[in-house]
Amino acid sequence: MKKAIYPGSFDPVTLGHLDIIERSAKLVDHLIVGVLNNKAKTPLFSVDERVNMLKEVTKHIPNVEVLSFSGLLVEFAKEHEVNAIIRGLRAVTDFEYELAMSQTNKVAAPSIDTVFLNTSLEYAYLSSSIVKEMAMYNGDISKFVPEYVIDKVNEKYNASNN
Ligand code: PNS
Repeated sequence: MKKAIYPGSFDPVTLGHLDIIERSAKLVDHLIVGVLNNKAKTPLFSVDERVNMLKEVTKHIPNVEVLSFSGLLVEFAKEHEVNAIIRGLRAVTDFEYELAMSQTNKVAAPSIDTVFLNTSLEYAYLSSSIVKEMAMYNGDISKFVPEYVIDKVNEKYNASNN
């Protein structure tokens, strides 16, 4: 059985992430979306909120499981006996960091390869940070995140403006 992990912060999940999830789920038997619980950063959404949003927006894909992890990605990957780590590449600016991360992970866990999927052109500019920046200034984020996520993001900023 071919198993892969698609890790990330997903703060929040964007249409670009969902595109990578849908495409990579077709390449493997089982795809784990791994949501990083990074204690060093203060995300907009708690890890439980991020996991719940991802579960909701991937519920139409039967071979996707959403889990959170903390600590090293390779340890999480080994624990779940995956063959590959999936990462999306938007532009050359992503490349240097992604290459270093994949090489480090390969040294730490030689049996696990990183597979890069190029982001679909329509989402090449998109990031969770851009979505948050737009929402913070009351911009329309409906073209950037799944429908379920729109209100969740706007609620966060409305709550902090009150
Ligand atoms: O969505 P992001 O923030 O680009 O995802 C980055 C992520 C979560 C894949 C990366 O930061 C990660 O794997 N963090 C876990 C800690 C770890 O393993 N770090 C070593 C990487 S060289």
